[in-house]
Amino acid sequence: MTDTSSQAKATFRVGSNIAFIKYWGVADPELNIPLNNSISMTLADAVTVTTVAWDREGQLAQDEIVLDGQRLGPETAQRLVRHLDRIRALAGFQHRARVVSRNNFPMAAGIASSASGFAALTVAACAAAGLRLDASRLSALARRGSGSASRSLFGGFVEWEQGADDATSVAHPLFPPEHWPLLDVVAVVSRAHKAVSSAGGHTLATTSPLLEGRLAHVHNWLVEVREAIATRDLARLGPIIELDALAMHGVMMTSSPSLLYWEPATLALLHAVRRWRRQEGLPVYFTIDAGPNVHLICEPESLGPLRERLAAMPEVQEVLVSGPGPGPQELDEHLF
Ligand code: DP6
Repeated sequence: MTDTSSQAKATFRVGSNIAFIKYWGVADPELNIPLNNSISMTLADAVTVTTVAWDREGQLAQDEIVLDGQRLGPETAQRLVRHLDRIRALAGFQHRARVVSRNNFPMAAGIASSASGFAALTVAACAAAGLRLDASRLSALARRGSGSASRSLFGGFVEWEQGADDATSVAHPLFPPEHWPLLDVVAVVSRAHKAVSSAGGHTLATTSPLLEGRLAHVHNWLVEVREAIATRDLARLGPIIELDALAMHGVMMTSSPSLLYWEPATLALLHAVRRWRRQEGLPVYFTIDAGPNVHLICEPESLGPLRERLAAMPEVQEVLVSGPGPGPQELDEHLF
């Protein structure tokens, strides 16, 4: 084993995140500059582990990328290869990369695998290249791959500033994970791959007549969400996150072409959550990303009663639970 090959490999574990105020729509699709700030919680238990090794000996003719045990074909790999190109440009070399990545949650069903995936690829590839970038620059770089990935560069509760350019459109931490043991309980109603990727959807947002309405209100919602997190006030946070998720899906549904991510099971859950709250006093609120699965946000004491109710719903195939987690963690053990 030579020193150079061991330096050229790095492995990181990065948590996905769930947004309370969503990112939907881009001002600049090349740079992924969003139309509004977003706020999220980085997840402890929905994680991607990625190992990147740069091929300094020139053995590879192209990047070799294995995701959840499957070698990616050239088309699927393209977005990741473009991201590796950005890191090659920064590092000032042309080496190909060997990338192995594993998620512990189903991909492409509204649980943001692109967030943890691109964040993990960014930090592992930069570390393996010997690039020493601070967290803010890593956030900007991850954002180029996937907007939501910019937020996974930090643990706990995080805000991504819309910013004006590549350097200023970055995330920063609001509160560490210990601040509030909030839970994201994902009711998985479908494991099918989504028909339209978020990247495609972001560019459609401007075709929706509802976009302006959402953007006109989102500033006030951000203020509310920051304060609700600061004071650990779920009764204040919950209604705003439901409102913003519905506003975002309103934009999605009314864009051209129309994006309808909900399944009948999605709607069944939304009604159930409101019934549990109203009739049974269970403090649980929903949010939904670009997919049919429903994220239920609650505090730890509600988890037992929530699980019981979800177990009784035939629509729910699986339940994934995660609290707030740390930022990227470097691991000594590599995936290859
Ligand atoms: C609905 O930045 O994840 O989850 O990488 O193309 O999937 P892709 O886009 P991404 O979009 C996230 C959209 C969202 C809302 C959010 O997480 O803010």
